Amino acid sequence: MEQSVAGFDGSLGTGNGYLPAGSGKSDRVRGGVLAQGVTPAAPLPHPFLRAENLTHSYAVAGRALRLFDGLSFELNTAELVAVVGPSGAGKSTLLHILGALDTPSSGRVVCDATCVTTLTRKQAARYRNLEVGYVWQFHYLLPEFSAAENVAMPLLARGDRKSEALHSACSWLERVGLSGRAEHRAGELSGGEQQRVAIARALITEPKLLLADEPTGDLDSETSESVFSLIESLHRSREMTTVLVTHNMALARRVDRVLRLTRGKLEEVSPEAV
Ligand SMILES: Nc1ncnc2c1ncn2[C@@H]1O[C@H](COP(=O)(O)OP(=O)(O)OP(=O)(O)O)[C@@H](O)[C@H]1O
Ligand SMILES: [Mg+2]
Repeated sequence: MEQSVAGFDGSLGTGNGYLPAGSGKSDRVRGGVLAQGVTPAAPLPHPFLRAENLTHSYAVAGRALRLFDGLSFELNTAELVAVVGPSGAGKSTLLHILGALDTPSSGRVVCDATCVTTLTRKQAARYRNLEVGYVWQFHYLLPEFSAAENVAMPLLARGDRKSEALHSACSWLERVGLSGRAEHRAGELSGGEQQRVAIARALITEPKLLLADEPTGDLDSETSESVFSLIESLHRSREMTTVLVTHNMALARRVDRVLRLTRGKLEEVSPEAV
């Protein structure tokens, strides 16, 4: 079956049968919540991100390791969602698929009207640069470059002028509480400071989707708390959809929704119950 590839004008190809004609940003109800008592005008609002029937297998020693058993879920605009589950369940793999770093064995992901799973390599790189911010457990900063240069990297990668990129990087460093560290080499910063630089780097392109894979996993509890609070406040101050993988249940209790990935299945659990 032919699958449609989204163009970067935000449109899906024709004949995909996915979005109703005329669907667009103006039709979307922010946060996925309709005002009470209001009858929605057609077309109906659609979620910011929809995963449909995802399966994923790795070939290991001639055998298939099947990770997902037909996962389907939706994320609404501006939701802060935690993904929890045991080690090896496939949480990082799921984030990679949502962020076009990996493609599922079957199924598809549609994000803000872009069919992520059918992008070419070049389109996927552009989607990652324009739409997605990543924060990893290990920040992957370039240690010999300054904090400001690290933060500016995504803008430089898309061809922005260096002076403008650095100017924007400095204002982001200020927002994450590191205005005095712009000229420090990344390798000279503390773990928590490096993670703040990584958050600034993830958000400098103003992504609509933030994917954070155990961003506090390598930090002590006090620093974890401050890094999580930073992500939370930046998330709340923007209309960004955030997916946070965490093993820290105290943090998972503070999000809007929790999805638990176990044995290939994803179930919604109440944040209070984790
Ligand atoms: N490239 C790969 N080739 C083969 N197997 C892989 C590959 N990447 C991941 N896996 C396997 O897939 C499973 C899921 O990995 P993943 O990293 O997504 O788990 P996770 O839920 O993020 O675990 P953790 O909580 O420990 O980070 C693991 O058993 C892992 O060994
Ligand atoms: Mg992982």
